[in-house]
Amino acid sequence: MSKNFYVTTPIYYVNGDPHVGSAYTTIACDVISRYKKTAGYDVYFLTGTDEHGQKVEEKAKEMGKTPQEWTDIMAPRFAELWKALNIENNDFIRTTEDRHKKAVAKIFKKVYDKGDIYKGSYEGKYCVSDETFVPDNQVIGENGCPHCGKELRLVKEESYFFKMSKYREALLKHIEENPNFILPESRRNEVISFIKDELYDLSISRNTFKWGIPLEIDPEHVIYVWFDALTNYLTAVGYENNPEMYDKFWNNAETVHLLGKDILRFHAITWPCMLLAAGERLPEKIVAHGWWTVDGAKMSKSVGNVVNPLDEIAKYGVDAFRYFLLREVHFGNDGDYSEKAMVGRINADLANDLGNLLNRTLGMYKKYFNNIITEGEGHEVFDDEIETLWQETLVNVDKYMNKMQFSYGLETIWKYISRMNKYIDETMPWALAKDEDKKPRLAKVMNNLVEALYKIAVLVYPYMPESAEKIWNQLGFKEVRNGKLEDIKNFKVSIGHTLNEASPIFPRIEVLKEPVKEFKDDLVVENPINISQFDAINIRVVEIKEAFAVEGSDKLLRFIVDTGTEKRQIVSGIAKYYPNFEELKGKKVMAVLNLEPVNLRGVLSQGMLLTTTEKKKVKLVEIDTSVKIGSQIK
Ligand code: ME8
Repeated sequence: MSKNFYVTTPIYYVNGDPHVGSAYTTIACDVISRYKKTAGYDVYFLTGTDEHGQKVEEKAKEMGKTPQEWTDIMAPRFAELWKALNIENNDFIRTTEDRHKKAVAKIFKKVYDKGDIYKGSYEGKYCVSDETFVPDNQVIGENGCPHCGKELRLVKEESYFFKMSKYREALLKHIEENPNFILPESRRNEVISFIKDELYDLSISRNTFKWGIPLEIDPEHVIYVWFDALTNYLTAVGYENNPEMYDKFWNNAETVHLLGKDILRFHAITWPCMLLAAGERLPEKIVAHGWWTVDGAKMSKSVGNVVNPLDEIAKYGVDAFRYFLLREVHFGNDGDYSEKAMVGRINADLANDLGNLLNRTLGMYKKYFNNIITEGEGHEVFDDEIETLWQETLVNVDKYMNKMQFSYGLETIWKYISRMNKYIDETMPWALAKDEDKKPRLAKVMNNLVEALYKIAVLVYPYMPESAEKIWNQLGFKEVRNGKLEDIKNFKVSIGHTLNEASPIFPRIEVLKEPVKEFKDDLVVENPINISQFDAINIRVVEIKEAFAVEGSDKLLRFIVDTGTEKRQIVSGIAKYYPNFEELKGKKVMAVLNLEPVNLRGVLSQGMLLTTTEKKKVKLVEIDTSVKIGSQIK
């Protein structure tokens, strides 16, 4: 097969902001995409947003926007997070784009012309949150969705159906003949038994709401959001408009869809059936990962424990966040996100193992050879051991990466890192340095260490691109992104090459939390106020409509906010903390509305936005977007 690689994330619903779950899938795709590039592949990496359907339509309505306005606000929030996470996607598809509508019309027509679409009527349960039809025998209790537990709605409408049942045998055969089609294996077995149980025809149009792509054959109907969304994988590689690209990245590529276990059925059943009906090639691999909880609990807006990746990046750095997600759980298993686990990983794996190897090596090279790579000589059994382990490392990393076993890939790399730390202890450069005759051996040992770090950087690059680049820079090299697996197999550093100064890449994180004091009934409250004093403060949820810099001031920002009853102008001294203040538009925050209006630098301020200060950084107190504008804080 030609060395083309096509990898996709699910396209995310725009009913809410991206979070640690969506970041996880996207980072995993970025890692495999960067790895494949180091392996010499031509890679195409797609992500995007799923913008049609009832769920998005209802969210937009709740927010007082048209669906198009809402999706136009939300889609950039995903794109911006991906930038902050160093995601190197080639394309960002939005299902409201014209190119996508054309591709959906094309695949629909193909399947229709084949006779695989018929008109009928659907009466049954529907989960808006999952955008899925739920057969009666799967309903939980009275009316609960078997997937998310939310209340189901009764849908009764005319609908077009896709003859999915017709492809049952062909799909089973494909799954059985291709053991890597659905990964991991436990999930594959789940899908097989699901198909064996019963495969129903699928209702693929709705006519009781409008936010979707109308059917050409019957414009009263919009296409079912999953039929629409899955097609994005074809749209982006030119199904409708670029035959050359389509040939390269669909017909002649290793195609991999990564997604969470929640939507495996759509990808491993509906999607292949659609492709079989349309006469298109099936993807190579469909890989489902597990679910993240936070401190042991399900992430949920109402509980308020949703992890915002931007906060985590600010606290720990983007590479530590990427590393943690892929190292902490085996891809496919569920995982738990906690500060404790994160700090543990940073201190043990990054600061201790990798950070120390780099610092020790550079520190000694400076001390013994003034940073200039010097010709070495001599050989001990440890040298063979590290070489053998290195060759095994390359083979194993490749094996794990091809099965999307990211954590095992990292374990393999870390085994080599630990071995190299041990190599320092075994060869004892400080002892060799004491004897002038042993200088050649010292140089040899030190060169082995430099070479190991050079090679390690290329292997950790897909996971931690910025840190890998820093390692190369400290070793006196640039552009680790161009490092290829082929070149690191037997890399040798040139004599005379100059190393750079060492500086810690992964500082240790000290968690110095004041212990929370035990409950005491004689607690003395400082500066007490009574309830009527508190009630006198009118604090409400407002939405930021406009945000401007204040001329002549680098501290102030001027906001126009909606208080639910009127628009007000509020000036706030937070400019330093929000260089991209435009992004605050649409956010809901808390404001004190009955403060006496004041002039700040000649600008009228009719209230005060509430903020918090953490580690000297001032932040607006944001309110969940589902809370209504004007709600009183009591
Ligand atoms: O399902 N843990 O979009 P979506 C791990 N639009 N991963 C999580 C997660 C968690 N707690 N929460 C979400 C859709 N994810 C459809 C997809 S594709 C043609 C259409 C990740 O916004 C995981 O990858 O609900 C999951 O599959 C995806 O987000 C669902 O995103």
